[in-house]
Amino acid sequence: MILTGLARPKVNLFLHVTERREDGYHLLESLVCFPDGIGDRITVSEGDALSLFETGPFASQTGCQSQNLIMKAADLLKREFSVGQGAKVLLEKNLPVASGIGGGSADAALTLNLLCDLWKISIEKDHLESLAASLGADVPSCLQSRTAMMRGIGEILSPVETLPAFSILLVNPGVTVSTPAIFKELSIPEDQPAIPERWGEVPNDIFLSLGRCRNDLEPAAFSLVPAIKKVINILKMQDGCRLARMSGSGATCFGLFETLEEARDAQKTVEMQHPSWWSAASMVNADVDA
Ligand code: C5P
Repeated sequence: MILTGLARPKVNLFLHVTERREDGYHLLESLVCFPDGIGDRITVSEGDALSLFETGPFASQTGCQSQNLIMKAADLLKREFSVGQGAKVLLEKNLPVASGIGGGSADAALTLNLLCDLWKISIEKDHLESLAASLGADVPSCLQSRTAMMRGIGEILSPVETLPAFSILLVNPGVTVSTPAIFKELSIPEDQPAIPERWGEVPNDIFLSLGRCRNDLEPAAFSLVPAIKKVINILKMQDGCRLARMSGSGATCFGLFETLEEARDAQKTVEMQHPSWWSAASMVNADVDA
């Protein structure tokens, strides 16, 4: 049996940090979305042992295989359910690594789902979610891979069904960013903007609402990686860009647009000016086949 899926990136449309916990983790409020049709492709098939093969533009940057969240997810599931067989996992790494869009977390979440099917494991939803949470703070949201309000350290999720469709351009300047380093550098803001209860019915509503929110990790990220500020400034200058912001702890930033055509035109301009940067234009909430 061969099973495959797309591990879509997680974008934090805003991210407020409210508290630092004693264990060093931070309590957050964040609206996360998963742009359509882009991501890492993972394919699994039967095998005696667990093995991982990597291809794609960012395969050389994923680091040591035993530290890869795909292998950690597979090992965890195998141990939890005393699975005797292994699996061949093929990763086409299309998303930049350590880049604030949860690529590794999305890979881990999809691996859990695919291997449950391959190994015919029947698992309760809560159990799967707790396994996901043990792999990393972003893995539960990637398991759902749908627009949601995220709270706690990332594990409390409320789906947001009513968001209108809009377009997004993701841009990464080719710099990896250490998430712990950014959180360590962060000063938690004293004021917290109110989070809208409803995001509105048309793209303009959500752009205005999001404009009143922030990514609280931006100041720390800008001071550690000045290129991020430059990406945001370039995005802001593009025709039709209604909001430009960093996702997660960076360095990937996004611009929001009403139409996919505007996002694609902006992508062409950014690509021409900075051919070495990674970018992807897509839709959010358009219910295109993921
Ligand atoms: O859980 P994960 O391994 O993805 O988190 C990476 C790092 O990001 C943590 O070690 C922590 O420094 C930071 N983090 C945090 N608060 C969160 C999520 C992540 O401080 N809610």
